[in-house]
Amino acid sequence: MTAPGHPATGADFVVVANRLPVDKKVRPDGSVVWKRSPGGLVTALTPTLETRSGAWVGWSGSASQDGSPEEKPDVEGIDIHPVPLSAAEVEDYYEGFSNATLWPLFHDLLVKPEYRHDWWEAYVRVNRRFAETAASAAAPNAMVWVQDYQLLLVPAMLRETRPDLRIGFFLHIPFPPTELFSQLPWRTDLLEGLLGADLLGFHLPGGAENFLTLARRLLGTRTSNGPITAREDFGAVEYDGRTVKVGSFPISIDSADVAAQATAAADRAVTIRAELGDPEVLLLGVDRLDYTKGIDVRLASLERLFASGRLDPAKTVMVQLASPSRERVDSYIDMRNRIEQMVGHLNGKYGTVARPPIRYLLQPVARDELLAYFRAADVMLVTPMRDGMNLVAKEYLAARADLGGALVLSEFTGAAAELGEAYLLNPYDDRDVDDAIEAAVTDPAEARRERMRILHDQVMTNDVDLWATSFLDTLAADA
Ligand code: ADP
Ligand code: F6P
Repeated sequence: MTAPGHPATGADFVVVANRLPVDKKVRPDGSVVWKRSPGGLVTALTPTLETRSGAWVGWSGSASQDGSPEEKPDVEGIDIHPVPLSAAEVEDYYEGFSNATLWPLFHDLLVKPEYRHDWWEAYVRVNRRFAETAASAAAPNAMVWVQDYQLLLVPAMLRETRPDLRIGFFLHIPFPPTELFSQLPWRTDLLEGLLGADLLGFHLPGGAENFLTLARRLLGTRTSNGPITAREDFGAVEYDGRTVKVGSFPISIDSADVAAQATAAADRAVTIRAELGDPEVLLLGVDRLDYTKGIDVRLASLERLFASGRLDPAKTVMVQLASPSRERVDSYIDMRNRIEQMVGHLNGKYGTVARPPIRYLLQPVARDELLAYFRAADVMLVTPMRDGMNLVAKEYLAARADLGGALVLSEFTGAAAELGEAYLLNPYDDRDVDDAIEAAVTDPAEARRERMRILHDQVMTNDVDLWATSFLDTLAADA
């Protein structure tokens, strides 16, 4: 079936995400450069779209000037459809409702969410603009894949005008339990927005089960009761005369590509260690600078390990590569100040002028350089208080085809569900954090290698193509 008013041409496969794969940066002289966008969503979706050729609907990352036409970056193999946002919409829809309401609520209230009706109005308006752009980019009966918490209303808005489309939705962050979600003054609107999809995907079975419980309790819908398992057993919601499928699809990375590029960066990895003074132990953190990531947790642990003599600051270097993120949101400014104060404190107390133990960058690092750091590091520190998946952990494991290194991983990441051989820790328990880091540094080489063998294989087998194919095949199955 096709709806009146939709285009006769268009793409058969359309991704709709808050961001385009590239970010617009305006230089001081006014010239424009496009750079890879931050975050895991772009890491996962770019290879997916390159192999499937389709359209990508998203925002450039900069506010548009009123009246000036939206620029279109050239991205090989992807038909780009930019969605303009005004400066006020960046504040209210992106920094406000998306990142000061939904983000903290969906991440265990690590900071207090703000509930503001003016932000909600902007969120509705911008979601409608994304839905309209997607509707005009999609061919008759196309498959449209909507992404993440910034666009929870798009599935229903799209179905309203284009009932011919097959609509999937994937959430890249955790989906909270009823008790938290119910705080939202707009909770039923958001659930109804999602239920416009044919298939709803979450990283973990727990998120999918939370959604079913909410649909039952808040909307009184009939839902399945059986267990949900990754990619195999699905749940269902009966809604508006349709059945909406609900499943768990743990996201991943282009593992073969990361492994190959990291192997090619092996010489650079040796140089990096030399530049750092050939430390006995090189610890690494790589994150968007976000309060969910637990950068402060690992720095606080290092302070305790140095103070107690369990790690020697003269023989240890920790590199923290942080990528700037949501820089005008208060909670991000607070966390940045806290981290920079801790780095200064640790270097002041435990360093020498020639050799500070912590090296901290607040800038995105080029991809090949990042992979060289992964290859150089003895221990990767991934310590979030809460994270939907955490692709950095998977990138590190794929990069270690040499079976060197060790992964310290918070139990509060989605990745921990698949990576049981990592040095797992509870980031809320100081002693557990210290013990896990110490064990990852001091365990015998053969024990560390055996863990890495299992973890590396896991990530090489469960790659982003498995994620995308399993989601899209499930979406196509009942069409
Ligand atoms: P999130 O989606 O919350 O940002 P993920 O760990 O899932 O977290 O994904 C982050 C992505 O951003 C990864 O592909 C990672 O390599 C990249 N990244 C994180 N920090 C940096 C950095 N400092 N420089 C370059 N890339 C980074
Ligand atoms: O995965 C969570 C997420 O919000 C993605 O949607 C996004 O790509 C990434 O983190 C980075 O966030 P932002 O687009 O706000 O810089």
